[in-house]
Amino acid sequence: MSVESYKLAAAQRALGFVEPRMRLGLGTGSTASVFVKLLGAEVERGLSVLCVPTSEQTRALAASFGIPLTTLDETPLLDLTIDGADELDGELRLIKGGGGALLREKIVATASDRMIVIADASKKVEKLGAFRLPVEVVRFGVTATRNMIEMLAADSGCHGEIALRLASDGTPFLTDGGNYIFDCAFGQIDDPESLDEALKFIPGVVENGLFLGIADAAIVGGPNGVSVIEAHYGESQEAV
Ligand code: A5P
Repeated sequence: MSVESYKLAAAQRALGFVEPRMRLGLGTGSTASVFVKLLGAEVERGLSVLCVPTSEQTRALAASFGIPLTTLDETPLLDLTIDGADELDGELRLIKGGGGALLREKIVATASDRMIVIADASKKVEKLGAFRLPVEVVRFGVTATRNMIEMLAADSGCHGEIALRLASDGTPFLTDGGNYIFDCAFGQIDDPESLDEALKFIPGVVENGLFLGIADAAIVGGPNGVSVIEAHYGESQEAV
């Protein structure tokens, strides 16, 4: 079994949570793309849903499958968002933003009644932080903002390289909102809540990739099948 098959198993299980006429948030990244593709096949078979994508990339993908799309302005309350994650811990705290869509992902997830994370087992960690934490910042005053991230993160016990994300052509990566991203190699984050609070204090920081208290469930595909982790309800194993 491969990572791709684990992603597929998680996405297939997530499809079971989708009901006719739901308003859905569609995540960004390779795992969310698998879900979008499966959803597209259901729409072709007649499933009626209305979806808000979390990135221009997902918008284009969903449109290519004929999935009915809207915006969060037209449909500000959603029933369910299905999205991937870069890391998740046992309390369903997440690091997201590896694909650069963390801001829209957080806005869409928090505008949803429920958020379900889909991931392969490599994303499940004891403690967050091996994945570099993405922090989206406005372009104005970016060096001052970087220095402030370093200082306030240190107060929360987090130290490590803070690198401006670059696109493949070597220029700074720009988010869909036209902002920069710093990838912060903090290593183990002992107190994500404290770090999140510190980062929110910095005026130049638009958002950070810590999703705390947002996910309601996670569907994790791995060699032993699919684990469904629900907030406050523990873990159960299901056959793929
Ligand atoms: C996009 O900005 C991210 O938050 C993704 O959800 C995350 O990077 C997971 O992507 P993969 O499913 O490609 O690992």
